[in-house]
Amino acid sequence: MKTRAAVLWTIGAERPYANSRPMTVEDVELDGPRAGEVLLAIRAAGLCHSDLSAIDGVRPRERTPLPMILGHEAVGEVLETGPGVDDLKPGDRVVTLFVPSCGQCAMCLGGRPALCVTAPQYSGAGTLASGGIRFSLRGTPVHHYVGVAAFSEMTVMMRRSLVRIDSDVPTDAASLIGCAVLTGVGAVFNTARVRSGESVAIVGLGGVGLSALLGARAAGASEIVAIDLSESKLALARELGATLAVNAADPECAAKVTAATGGGVDCAFEMAGAARAMAVAYQITRRGGTTVIGSLPASSVQLPISHANVVAEERTIKGSYFGSSVPVRDVPRYARMVRDGRLPVERIVDRRVALEDLNAAFDALADGQTLRQVLVPGS
Ligand SMILES: NC(=O)c1ccc[n+]([C@@H]2O[C@H](COP(=O)([O-])OP(=O)(O)OC[C@H]3O[C@@H](n4cnc5c(N)ncnc54)[C@H](O)[C@@H]3O)[C@@H](O)[C@H]2O)c1
Ligand SMILES: [Zn+2]
Ligand SMILES: [Zn+2]
Repeated sequence: MKTRAAVLWTIGAERPYANSRPMTVEDVELDGPRAGEVLLAIRAAGLCHSDLSAIDGVRPRERTPLPMILGHEAVGEVLETGPGVDDLKPGDRVVTLFVPSCGQCAMCLGGRPALCVTAPQYSGAGTLASGGIRFSLRGTPVHHYVGVAAFSEMTVMMRRSLVRIDSDVPTDAASLIGCAVLTGVGAVFNTARVRSGESVAIVGLGGVGLSALLGARAAGASEIVAIDLSESKLALARELGATLAVNAADPECAAKVTAATGGGVDCAFEMAGAARAMAVAYQITRRGGTTVIGSLPASSVQLPISHANVVAEERTIKGSYFGSSVPVRDVPRYARMVRDGRLPVERIVDRRVALEDLNAAFDALADGQTLRQVLVPGS
C-alpha cells in the first residue's frame, strides 16, 4: 500500500531546514504487518528534541541509517494485525514506545525494560525488532526510527512497541505519552521516586522538562523550581505549578535557588541537554540529595562535577532513560491521569503541524521557540 511520510535524506543539513529541506514528503510504499507486527494510522505525533538530534547529527551518525522516517512519540489507531497478534484489534488506540523491549533479557526480567539489551541493536540498524524494514521508495528501503517511524500517515510497528490505552484520552495529550510523559513523569516517579513533601527543581522546560514538572506536582512536591532560558516557558511553568521560576541566563541563578530553598532541593532534574544546565542542576541539589540527568546531548559532553564533592556531601547522580519506565504498567496509568486532569499535558502542546511543515517546525524547535509541537499526518 502507499502512505504519505516525511523521509529524512541528510544529517547535519544547513539551517534553516525550511530552505535546506532535509526531509521531503513522499508517497512511500508500506508492506503490511508480518508476524508480531501491527499496521496503524498515526493520529498525532509529538516533535521531540531527540528527533532533532537525528536531523542535526548530535546523535552518532551510525545510529541514523538513511533514508529514514523519524518520529517516536505518537498515538495511533490499529488498522490491521499480523499473525500472532491476538490482543489488539482494529480500532484500538495505542501509544508508541521507542524501546522495543524483548521481555527476556536480564534487564527486562529484572523489571527494567527501558534498558533492554536487545533494543539498541535494532534501533541502531533502523529496523523493526523483527529485523524487517517495511517502508520503501522506488525500490530503496526506508528505515524506521527506533522502531516507530511516526512521521507518516501509517506505519508498521512491533506489537511489543505498543501499549493500548482507553479511547477517551484526548488525542494531542495522548500523543505525548510515548516520550515526553514517560520520560519526564517517569524520571520523577520511577528514577527519583519523589515523595510527597520533597522539594524538586527542573532545569530545561521543553516537553520532557514540563512533563517532569507536572509529574512533580502530581507526586506532591512541596516546592517546584523551574529553570530555563525562555521567559515565556518560565511563565507557563508558574501557571503549571512552579513555586519559583529563575532564568538560567541569570549569573546568580544557582545562588538564588539555593538561598530560596534553604540549601538546595532534594532532587534536581536536568532536562535541557547542555553542560551548563547540568552544572546548575548539580549546584542546586542539596547535600545528600539526588541529581537526575535526563537529556541526551552529544556523546562528547562530559559531566562538570567534582569527585570529592560527590563523596563529602553524599550525593547521588542518576541517569534516567525512558523514565526508567515499565511501559505496560505506566502508560495506562499516565493515560488515566491525563484523562482525569491530574497530568494536564495538553497545556504543553502549543502548535499543530502538517507533514509539509516539519522542516520549519524543527527550525522552531532548534531555536527554543516552541513547547511541544504535534504533527497531525492526515491534515
Ligand atoms: N532520557 C530519555 O529517555 C530522553 C527521552 C526524550 C528526550 N530526551 C532528551 O531530553 C532533552 C529534552 O528534550 P525536549 O524534547 O524537552 O527538548 P526541548 O528542546 O523542547 O527543550 C529543552 C529546553 O531546555 C532549555 N535549555 C537549553 N539550555 C538551557 C540551559 N543552559 N539552562 C536551562 N535551560 C536550558 C531550552 O530553552 C528548552 O526549553 C533532549 O536532550 C532530548 O534529546 C531524553
Ligand atoms: Zn523523545
Ligand atoms: Zn530485553
